[in-house]
Amino acid sequence: MNKTLLVSAIENGTVIDHINAGQALRIIHLLDLRAKKYCVTVGMNLPSKHMSFKDIIKIENLVLKNEQANEVTVFAPEATINIIRNFEVVQKITTTLPPYIENVFDCPNPVCITRTEPVVTFFNIETESKQVNLVCKYCEKKFDRNEVKVKI
Ligand code: CTP
Ligand code: ZN
Repeated sequence: MNKTLLVSAIENGTVIDHINAGQALRIIHLLDLRAKKYCVTVGMNLPSKHMSFKDIIKIENLVLKNEQANEVTVFAPEATINIIRNFEVVQKITTTLPPYIENVFDCPNPVCITRTEPVVTFFNIETESKQVNLVCKYCEKKFDRNEVKVKI
């Protein structure tokens, strides 16, 4: 039984589904969607069959590049990234964790040099069993995905 979608279908673009609840805003920031003026619809804390709650992001008229899709998996390892054309899913992007993320998030360490000097932040991505960590290149501190700060 196909019930009404909580977030409307899109005609062309990208749907990032099965995002861990709470990570949608980091991903919107990561992809710079607000500044680039994309037409974006977001669902947060939606009920999901696979996860208890999920976030979802639908971006009209943007086909995500593989590198961008890979960066999304740092924050949403179970995300499914679908390319939509004429209302149909035409591709599901296969992702791998990227080696680093540059110039997007602030280092949470208050005494990190990146907090006072005009340097581009840089986090290496490291995995420890299932845990994904972001390690600041400058202060060498390790953070999980819920700790890195969005620059506003
Ligand atoms: N979607 C959309 N607009 C469309 C087509 C699909 O927003 N025109 C969304 C669906 O709501 C879903 C995602 O894109 O969130 C993937 O669509 P589909 O593969 O049809 O859904 P599922 O079979 O549920 O996908 P999955 O394999 O990820 O469970
Ligand atoms: Zn740092």
